[in-house]
This record gives sequence, structure tokens and C-alpha cells, in this order.
Amino acid sequence: MIDNKKVLFSGMQATGNLTLGNYLGALKNWVSLSDEYECFYSVVDMHSITVRQDPATLRKRARALLTLYIAAGLDPEKNCIYYQSHVSCHAELAWILNCFTYMGELNRMTQFKDKAAKHADNINAGLFTYPVLMAADILLYQADVVPVGIDQMQHLEITRDIAQRFNGIYGDVFTIPEAYIGKTGAKIMSLQDPAKKMSKSDENVNASIYLMDDPDAIRRKCKRAVTDSVGEVRYSDEQPGVKNLISIYCACLGKTPEEVEREFAGRGYGELKEAVGEAVVSVLEPLQKRVAELEKDKSYIDGIIKNNAEKANYYAQKTLRKVQRKIGFPDRIR
Ligand code: TYM
Repeated sequence: MIDNKKVLFSGMQATGNLTLGNYLGALKNWVSLSDEYECFYSVVDMHSITVRQDPATLRKRARALLTLYIAAGLDPEKNCIYYQSHVSCHAELAWILNCFTYMGELNRMTQFKDKAAKHADNINAGLFTYPVLMAADILLYQADVVPVGIDQMQHLEITRDIAQRFNGIYGDVFTIPEAYIGKTGAKIMSLQDPAKKMSKSDENVNASIYLMDDPDAIRRKCKRAVTDSVGEVRYSDEQPGVKNLISIYCACLGKTPEEVEREFAGRGYGELKEAVGEAVVSVLEPLQKRVAELEKDKSYIDGIIKNNAEKANYYAQKTLRKVQRKIGFPDRIR
């Protein structure tokens, strides 16, 4: 708790081009929860280097992501929006938690298996211990709630396991966090293969809508989305392509699947795709305009980066010092 408010933590990687999945599965919920909680939103640039990055591009993307958080509606005066790499406590706590995490647990992580298969020439130790750094992110701020898409659930579970293990040995040190999964949009699928999640690293550019896609590209990608030969607009597992389009429509406009089924009763897929395209444009176009405006104000963004790094450091250090004391590191001499 901070000032009688529960704490929320979440983060996104500054890697690749963000997709509509990142927005609908995470960022959009962050905004709707931000009044209720004391919030920490991190640009997790330390996680990004588990895959090789070009330095200039990483720096640029990290800044663009931080700007996007603000453009999406997170007030940086109220929410702590900061770069993970500006708070060294993340790395220090991750080291400690590494010593409380088992190889067997990490071996079961599906994201590790997927990424190791994708980057077979660079299966580094950081990729393997990635979930431990994520646990450190969350536990440093004593977060009660962590809004994420479904793909991050396994990482949330290991975070809880590590925290419970640590508390079991040393007493109540960490708050045990809960995942927050949105009702709609928690798993947006590829437009070209609705069995796969929409991902920034998909090689087929038509599979993903990128947050910075222009309106024509968005409409075109929706029009080309894979559907089926049933011919009915139904929210059903047997029609995964149509189900995904309905999910996107719902998450963009705040509708329920039942409402959408009624709206499109007796109408064809062409009309659905067109409506989905317009719904996505109505969400992304204003977002892109706000990003462009904010990018012009360099000193405003710089101020936020500085102030929020200080705030994050303050809270992170409180937890880290407590952990260090509990495990028996010598006291600092002042
Ligand atoms: P990342 O950067 O891959 O994704 C950021 C957020 O977007 C969600 N997401 C999706 N949601 C719905 N449909 C999709 N197709 C989709 N694709 C991505 C993700 O679930 C995530 O919420 N490991 C994290 C970053 C991280 C983190 C943390 C998150 C590091 N430390 C601490 C929460 C708390 C990741 O790689 O997310």
C-alpha cells in the first residue's frame, strides 16, 4: 500500500513495433485502472536485451514507448512512468531472486522455449532467467495487481511462487501479486492465422496491426483477415478468425460479443471486417496524433523521465534494503 492505495505494476518491452494486441491486452486496461491504484509503469529495456538489439534503435524505441504510455492517457504526474534501466534495484533484486528460483521451474516456461527456438544462435542466460527479472520488477514495488495479457500468466505464476517461497523462509517480505486480465482483448490473435497470438515479431506484416499503422493499412489488414466458410458472425471457438475480429471490435468499442452478434445478424463478413477496420482506426488515429504532439515537447518528456526515475528508485530501494537485511547482507555504515 502507498498512501492507502493498492499498488499496480506493469511493463512492456521496448522491442519491435508494438501491436494492437499490446494495446488492447495491456495498455488500455492500464489506463482504466490508473485512478484506482498507485501505479508503476515501466519501459522494460533490460528485458529487451535478452534478444540482440541495435543500441540506437533500442534507445529510440524505449523513448517512443514511454511517450506512448502518456499518449494513451496515463498521467505522468500521478503514475510513475520510467525506464527499468534507470532503477538498478531491479538487477540487484533479480540476482537475489535467482538464488530462490529453480532451474526446473524456468525450464517449464513456454515463452523461453518459444524464444529459444526463434533465436537458436543466441540462447543466453538472460533469456532463461527473464522471468526472475520480471518477478523482481513486480515484487520491488510490492504490487497487488499486475494487468497483463494472457500470454504473461505463466510469468505471473512463477512470480507468486518465488514470493511465497521467500516469504516462507524470511517472513512477510513481499506482497503476493494477482494478475489482472481484461474481459475482452486479453489475447488478440494473428489476422492471418487465428491459432497464433498477434505478435510484433510475426514475419507476415498482414498478420499484425501495428500501433503506428496508418488508417489505410489498418483497413486493408482487416479486410484481408482470415475468416471461414460458415458465413455467420458468431463468437465461437469453431470460428476462430471471426471470433478474433469480434474480440477486437468489442475491445475497441466497449461492446460485448452478444451485442456484436446481434448487430451483425444476417450480415456478411465483408461488413464485419469493414466495421472492425473503422473501430480500430477510431482508437489508433487519435493515439498516433497525441504521440506526434508529445514527441515535439522534448523538455516535458525529459522532466518526466527524471522525476519518475527518482520516485521509482525511492520505492524500489525501500524493498531492496529490507530484502538485503532479511537475507543477512551487512548493514551499510552511514
Ligand atoms: P510484452 O512486451 O511482450 O507485451 C506487453 C503486454 O502486451 C500483452 N500482449 C497481448 N495482449 C493481448 N493479445 C496479444 N496478442 C498480446 N501480445 C502482447 C502482454 O501480455 C503484455 O501484458 N514480459 C513482459 C514485460 C514485462 C512485464 C513485467 C509485464 C516485464 N516485466 C512486469 C508485467 C509486469 C512482456 O514481454 O510483455
